[in-house]
Amino acid sequence: MPITNDKGSSFLSSKEIGSINAWISEMKKYPLLIPTKKRKLAQRTLELPYKLIGNGLNRIVYDLDNGYVLKIAFSEIGLISNGQEFSLYHSAHPDIKQYLCPVKEKGQGWIVMKKMERKAPINLENLQKLSTLTMKFLLRGIIPVDLRLANIALSHDNEMVVIDYGLFIKALHGKTDQSNDDVPSAK
Ligand SMILES: Nc1ncnc2c1ncn2[C@@H]1O[C@H](COP(=O)(O)OP(=O)(O)O)[C@@H](O)[C@H]1O
Ligand SMILES: [Mg+2]
Repeated sequence: MPITNDKGSSFLSSKEIGSINAWISEMKKYPLLIPTKKRKLAQRTLELPYKLIGNGLNRIVYDLDNGYVLKIAFSEIGLISNGQEFSLYHSAHPDIKQYLCPVKEKGQGWIVMKKMERKAPINLENLQKLSTLTMKFLLRGIIPVDLRLANIALSHDNEMVVIDYGLFIKALHGKTDQSNDDVPSAK
């Protein structure tokens, strides 16, 4: 069972968790700062000993160098995205769980996610796979907001894995969780 609080992480030291907590309190003072500036401020405040692997408009991502990445919010949307990825992954129906990049731990403002090595290039095959994948999520009551190739990686057996699903929305009466089995398979 993944750890869902800030005590006893199997990935981060208490010093690292302390500096993330400090950053999250700091971040809340600057809601209007532009993303580039906020990301730089985050990096400076955090001072983490990991290599930066990427960032979007809401989260900064470090390579933990053990097959996992650390995603830290630098905006309110980033905070929501981290919570959403953790909860969607852990409540997903098996039909779609395989397409969501696994989230191992979450704390205040951060999550640890499996590191994916291969990006999905833009080509006809991947665009077709993307629309099939979109249907699979919709059939399980998930609106895959912002699902595009930039947010997708490929597994070793060429299956699509979504690495940024922080903006996905569970439809109110959707069939999203493991207990719902009456939706036809989209395979
Ligand atoms: N699981 C992952 N494995 C490898 N790289 C990742 C992973 N998750 C995110 N990244 C990198 O970090 C970038 C930003 O992460 P993302 O989740 O898209 O943040 P945001 O919510 O700000 O858009 C991605 O574009 C990608 O380059
Ligand atoms: Mg993104």
